[in-house]
Amino acid sequence: MKLPAADVARFQEQGFLVYPDLFSKEEVAILKGEVPQLYAERRPENVREKTGDVVRTNFAAHTYNPVYRALSRHPRMIDPAVQLLGGPVYIHQHKINGKAAFDGDVWQWHQDYGTWKNDDDMPNCHAMNLAIFLDEVNEFNGPLMFIPGSHREGVLKAGHDLTTTSYPLWTIDHATIRKLVERGGIVAPKGGPGTALFFHGNLVHGSTSNMSPWDRLIVYVSANRVDNAIRRFKRPEYIAHRDFTPIETLADDCLMQFRRKAAE
Ligand code: SIN
Ligand code: MN
Repeated sequence: MKLPAADVARFQEQGFLVYPDLFSKEEVAILKGEVPQLYAERRPENVREKTGDVVRTNFAAHTYNPVYRALSRHPRMIDPAVQLLGGPVYIHQHKINGKAAFDGDVWQWHQDYGTWKNDDDMPNCHAMNLAIFLDEVNEFNGPLMFIPGSHREGVLKAGHDLTTTSYPLWTIDHATIRKLVERGGIVAPKGGPGTALFFHGNLVHGSTSNMSPWDRLIVYVSANRVDNAIRRFKRPEYIAHRDFTPIETLADDCLMQFRRKAAE
């Protein structure tokens, strides 16, 4: 999959791209079908919400689940990353965020690269997120909010928030957010299952809690250029990966081999 020049220009200008229906209903059913069993496991890769037993995020499923392993090598994910980042990539992080109905908690305003730089010593922002909606994302179930163009500010000053949620994050203060929003506004891309959001590592984003009765499952593959590998190994391997082998993509229909299992 090769992105047209206009999309590359929009990515550079706005910091994100939206592709409705990048993955088919059948492919989404295969991906989503794995989640109950992944979330049911008691393992450190499942980080639970502060308030209870509900999974907030699952890390690294692509290292132990064949369906997500295939997704992390999918040409519709990896080809755009290679094109936008300008070279071969490896997977720095992999998350399946639940944002469960009623229980899904806030993600404070942040830049992912802020955390990757501060915690993992990633040299430059040659990294980005490839997100796929596994549920419908609407205005009620805590959609991701972006500040368009904010990635062009480079790395912003951030404070380490260890208390607001169950997951530590380098977050950006209110005065900075106010200034950025005055300039760029806020957008919250919505869409059906299978919608893809590709966004820059420095794009400022966050999401509110999910008060609705609808889950909001999103999978995030964070790709980093292989010549930009991290240099500090402070965080667990399942959060910040250390396998810097360039990803070789699979066939475009690679998820369909799991169809029968999903249908059983
Ligand atoms: C993130 O920023 O890493 C997750 C945000 C979300 O899933 O709402
Ligand atoms: Mn983030």
